[in-house]
Amino acid sequence: MEITLNAPLDMHLHLRDGDMLKLVAPLSSDFAGAVIMPNLVPPATTPAAMSAYSERIASAMGEESFTRYMTLFFTPQSEQQLTQAKATPGFFGYKLYPAGITTNSEGGVANLTEADSTLRMMQEMDIPLLVHGESHGFVMDRETEFLAVYRELAERYPKLRICMEHITTAAALQLLDEFDNLCATVTLQHLIITLDDVAGGALQPHLFCKPIAKRPGDRDALLQAALNAHPRLMFGSDSAPHPRCKKEACGCAAGVFTAPLALPRLAELFARHGALDKLQAFISDNACKLYGLTPVQKQITLHDVPMQVPASYRSYGQQVIPMYAGEQLSWSVKR
Ligand code: NCD
Ligand code: ZN
Repeated sequence: MEITLNAPLDMHLHLRDGDMLKLVAPLSSDFAGAVIMPNLVPPATTPAAMSAYSERIASAMGEESFTRYMTLFFTPQSEQQLTQAKATPGFFGYKLYPAGITTNSEGGVANLTEADSTLRMMQEMDIPLLVHGESHGFVMDRETEFLAVYRELAERYPKLRICMEHITTAAALQLLDEFDNLCATVTLQHLIITLDDVAGGALQPHLFCKPIAKRPGDRDALLQAALNAHPRLMFGSDSAPHPRCKKEACGCAAGVFTAPLALPRLAELFARHGALDKLQAFISDNACKLYGLTPVQKQITLHDVPMQVPASYRSYGQQVIPMYAGEQLSWSVKR
């Protein structure tokens, strides 16, 4: 069995910077492009910083046909700043983080009223808003608590394109169905694992991410929506590499590194559920329609030939542990 995908896109990707960027960027090169997250240290808040970062990605990637859809870290903006951002080549949208909610998000938004005028202008200018939707409440309830904020945003800015990033709950899917101006990304791991896989037995730091994996019913609802190619649900890996020493540590950093195996594992998952014909929509077409994207032409064939996932990826003095480290997947990329 095999499937050829046109222009697979990763709609939520962390590539980091420096030596880590050099290590991980080429591992996403089977994708035609990706939405690049801005939570660097310091975060990318200006078009100049964003463009410079995009150039560093291009040289680390060493692959010409990879489109970088660049995001800026949301802070309140003037009309002139928004106009300048929109005119910057490669600019995709703003990523809004509640202050302190995840890795490198300390400079995020503490109070949404401070964002009102910016969001109004973004709506007028048709600039997408990507949101890390978690409250500061109990860890299992953070996303459901944040749904009230999504609802408020969707109602107050009916023409703003709002993307609920890395959704993890059945409740988020229900909200998605209530508002046409909402779309969502979902990761590989949230289609597969639950909190049990993270902490039900021996603690698995390499499966620890924000938002934390939820209940079986949530995972099942997300998987069904992906397998049915829900038209406003897109693949976004949220592949978030951290050095091994930051993961296998007291105070484990949040993030699952999936970039090098996401496509084979998705093909395996969709094939097992008899839904391979829906993968193209989930991995590219939905995003292209929702955002009007025209990615570079890149075809990737996946087949049911096993892939050995390395125990780790290392170079440039960096080491990262992927999901499924040392295990065999039953699908791989046909080279
Ligand atoms: C991400 C990271 O490490 O940058 N971590 C994560 O657990 N997903 C940040 C994020 O997207 O929340
Ligand atoms: Zn992320």
